[in-house]
Amino acid sequence: MPSRIKLRDATLADAPLLRAWEQQPHLQVSGIDGDWEWETELPRKPSWREQLIAELDGRPIGFVQIIDPAVEESHYWGAVEADLRAVDIWIGEPECLGRGHGGAIMRQALARCFADPAVAAVLIDPLASKRRAHRFYRRAGFVPVGPRRLGNDDCLVMRLSREDWQASAR
Ligand SMILES: CC(C)(COP(=O)(O)OP(=O)(O)OC[C@H]1O[C@@H](n2cnc3c(N)ncnc32)[C@H](O)[C@@H]1OP(=O)(O)O)[C@@H](O)C(=O)NCCC(=O)NCCS
Repeated sequence: MPSRIKLRDATLADAPLLRAWEQQPHLQVSGIDGDWEWETELPRKPSWREQLIAELDGRPIGFVQIIDPAVEESHYWGAVEADLRAVDIWIGEPECLGRGHGGAIMRQALARCFADPAVAAVLIDPLASKRRAHRFYRRAGFVPVGPRRLGNDDCLVMRLSREDWQASAR
C-alpha cells in the first residue's frame, strides 16, 4: 500500500501554519523553540538545507529539516565530518502524535538523506531529557553518541550509519 505520508518542499505560504504549530504546547517543550525566521528562511534555498512539509493524505501535519552540518552557516553542530546529514523532525498537529506517522515521516526523511551515495550517517539532537523521543529514534535505528551542549540546550546526539540504515530497511 502506498504511504499516506508525503514530503514536499516547504514554501513561504506555509509560514502561518508553521508559526501556529510553534505555539502548540507539545512543541513549546520540545527544544524546537526559538525563532526559525520562517518568512526569511522558507524562500531561501541554500544548497546545504531542505525544509519540507509532511502531509498525511494531502493535509500538512509536520515539518522536516535536513541540513549538511559541516556546511550549515551558523555552525550549530561545531566541527563535524563531511558527508553527514542532520535532521529535525516534528509533528505540528497534536491529534497526529503517537499514531505512527512520525515513523513514516522519518523513513522518508532517511531515504532522502541516504539517496546521496556520499552520505555516511545521519545525526539528530533530541533534548537529553526527552526519553520518549530517544526511544522513537532508537526504533528508527539511531544509536546514542553522547551528551552535547548545542545552542542553549543539553542534547543527546544520536547517529544512524548508512550500514545500520540499510540493515534495518531489509
Ligand atoms: C517525536 C515524534 C516525531 C514521533 O512521531 P509520532 O508519530 O508521535 O511517533 P510514533 O507514533 O511513530 O511513535 C510513538 C512514539 O513517539 C514519541 N512520542 C509520542 N508523542 C510524543 C510527544 N508528545 N512528545 C515526544 N515524543 C512523543 C514516543 O517516543 C512514542 O513512543 P512511546 O509511546 O514508546 O514513548 C512526534 O511525537 C513529535 O513531533 N513530537 C513533538 C516534538 C518532540 O517532542 N520531539 C522531540 C524533541 S527532543
